[in-house]
Amino acid sequence: MAALRALREADLPAASALTGSFQWPHRPEDWAFMHALGQGLAVERAGKLAATGLLVPYGEEAAALGMVSVAPELQGQGLGRAMMQGLLDLAGSRVVGLYATQAGEKLYRQLGFATLGAACQFQGATFTTTLQPLPDGERVRPTGRSDRVAIAALDRAATGLDRSMLVNALLKTGTAVVLDRGGAPAGFAVLRRFGRGQVIGPVMAEDMVGAKALVSHFLNLTPGQFIRVDVVEDSGLAPWLAALGLSDAGRVLHMVRGAAPVPTGPARRFALAGQTFG
Ligand SMILES: CC(C)(COP(=O)(O)OP(=O)(O)OC[C@H]1O[C@@H](n2cnc3c(N)ncnc32)[C@H](O)[C@@H]1OP(=O)(O)O)[C@@H](O)C(=O)NCCC(=O)NCCS
Repeated sequence: MAALRALREADLPAASALTGSFQWPHRPEDWAFMHALGQGLAVERAGKLAATGLLVPYGEEAAALGMVSVAPELQGQGLGRAMMQGLLDLAGSRVVGLYATQAGEKLYRQLGFATLGAACQFQGATFTTTLQPLPDGERVRPTGRSDRVAIAALDRAATGLDRSMLVNALLKTGTAVVLDRGGAPAGFAVLRRFGRGQVIGPVMAEDMVGAKALVSHFLNLTPGQFIRVDVVEDSGLAPWLAALGLSDAGRVLHMVRGAAPVPTGPARRFALAGQTFG
């Protein structure tokens, strides 16, 4: 039986090396950002980190689960299942969402997760920058402190989740812009350091025009730099990002265990904050 223990801050460089063995790009700093917002679990074998997993609670009712990894030489021995069981015990009665690789999908199904959709990872340093025209009265502008409440409300409307802790952390660490419509935020996006470069996400908007304007804003600021965007597959953004020159680096399934959260809209999610956060 695998002995699970809490993942500690001192484990994060080893956690980054372990997940790096699957070509996941999370730096120790990226692990630290997620770890500060959630609860991690670890398995140790012969004094070395052998497995990781992380649960990020969104209020009392929901949680995101991610970073489930088992060292390649120890896979197939039940560690992954034990890690998932430990994380689900931490989640208690919360509805749990995750983004599944092909390797994890079967295990998650066995544990009661069902597919809701999918997300596609687009990335690269070679892309065309574009100016996205907006209707009269709309513009993309930097955020101020007074936008925080509206941004958290947009995130909630787009996800059906209370992610205010995550939103606050993103606004603190990253650069955010809002899509301003007649003086009120109708969408937002965040750019932050992550992995091999920077990530644009989340992107929340009411329509494609708004979402493209938000993403274009950041692409125009970062020509030639490595950018990643995890887009919701059926959002319509994927073909546009491909046409701009970003490459499709793979697909993950959005799965949920329990009643799926119900977004109220009209803002919807075009890109994730990350595959762990959703
Ligand atoms: C997914 C992962 C965590 C599973 O860990 P593991 O310790 O190998 O899994 P377990 O031994 O507990 O097996 C759990 C289930 O996974 C599936 N599984 C395990 N090894 C498998 C393999 N080689 N091929 C296909 N399915 C496999 C089986 O359904 C298994 O249950 P069963 O043996 O009762 O049928 C591990 O493969 C991993 O770290 N992969 C790389 C990182 C990754 O993709 N993580 C998932 C992120 S969403």
